[in-house]
Amino acid sequence: MDQGQTLSRFLESQAGDPQRAAVAAAVGAIAAASVEISELIGQGALAGITGKAHGAENADGDVQKDLDVKAEEIIVKALKNVPWAALASEESDKLVMGDPQAPIAIAYDPLDGSSNIDTNMTVGTIFSIIPNQPGVKPFSAPGSCQIAAGFVVYGPQTSLVLTLGNGVDIYTLDRKAKEYRLIREGVKVPADTAEYAINASNHRHWEQPVRDFVDECLAGSDGPRAKDFNMRWIGSLVAEAYRILTRGGVFLYPADSRPGYGEGRLRVLYETHPMAFVMEQAGGAASTGRERVLDLVAKSTHQRSPLIMGSREKVARIELLHTDPSAASRTAPLFARRGLFRV
Ligand code: F6P
Repeated sequence: MDQGQTLSRFLESQAGDPQRAAVAAAVGAIAAASVEISELIGQGALAGITGKAHGAENADGDVQKDLDVKAEEIIVKALKNVPWAALASEESDKLVMGDPQAPIAIAYDPLDGSSNIDTNMTVGTIFSIIPNQPGVKPFSAPGSCQIAAGFVVYGPQTSLVLTLGNGVDIYTLDRKAKEYRLIREGVKVPADTAEYAINASNHRHWEQPVRDFVDECLAGSDGPRAKDFNMRWIGSLVAEAYRILTRGGVFLYPADSRPGYGEGRLRVLYETHPMAFVMEQAGGAASTGRERVLDLVAKSTHQRSPLIMGSREKVARIELLHTDPSAASRTAPLFARRGLFRV
């Protein structure tokens, strides 16, 4: 690995046909915007960022925070000189249409996990780039048509995860030089780990297959998986994805029975599609429980889908529990070999 490799030098090497050049320009612009967003986040209240509600709701009904609005402005400005046909942003009701002949369209979430801002926790920017075909409605193809995707994690370090469809690389921001430098090349999701992430407060709303999987994990070494698990929930998709790319495990935001959550919480175009592309490119998997996320076609700009992503074997197990409920071993953890009611 060439550790001195900078993202800008790598992107320069991508210039070729118009589509590749447009992808390189878009990734470069998002990276430049993320340096600015990272600085704002790092300064927090000192830069007037409070994490407080801005007073409006975004297209999907989430309360907009001041940084959501600022991050959107920074990204739109950065993309000004990029040839795009359409933009789909979490912060914008409708698609923004550009040059119909441009070679690409871009979907992005300028600030994912913004409810974490005032608690000084990790947030991120997610993006997905698809080819544009003049005359064809943008974003009407399945996620497998993506030609680039990635996300920036604003954590203790600011890092950019990138796939151009040929593996996954991670760059970390050198804050002094304001340059992203390659730190991991050809990232692979570790196959066998014992971490799972889910918002367990929704347990009573889940479908049975999700309960079955979590029960198996809770049963630990006494249960069918004969192994103790560790649970994580950061409430920030980018942070969970970064952890999975580093340590493996599985993340679930499933559909549940709460009003409005019939397709889960995460949005297809700028959350589940790009995450699924990154996971698959890193040798992991991403599923709704019933189908591969990259096979989904979004029916509307802000359509949601369930997302189960991470180590391939765990995603496969959860899919099996959905398609073949008899695969579940329904041993409630409280009654397991060394459970509360057995000694
Ligand atoms: O899309 C928004 C998001 O903040 C994700 O980053 C995160 O995974 C999820 O919502 C958290 O949702 P909840 O608050 O329901 O746990």
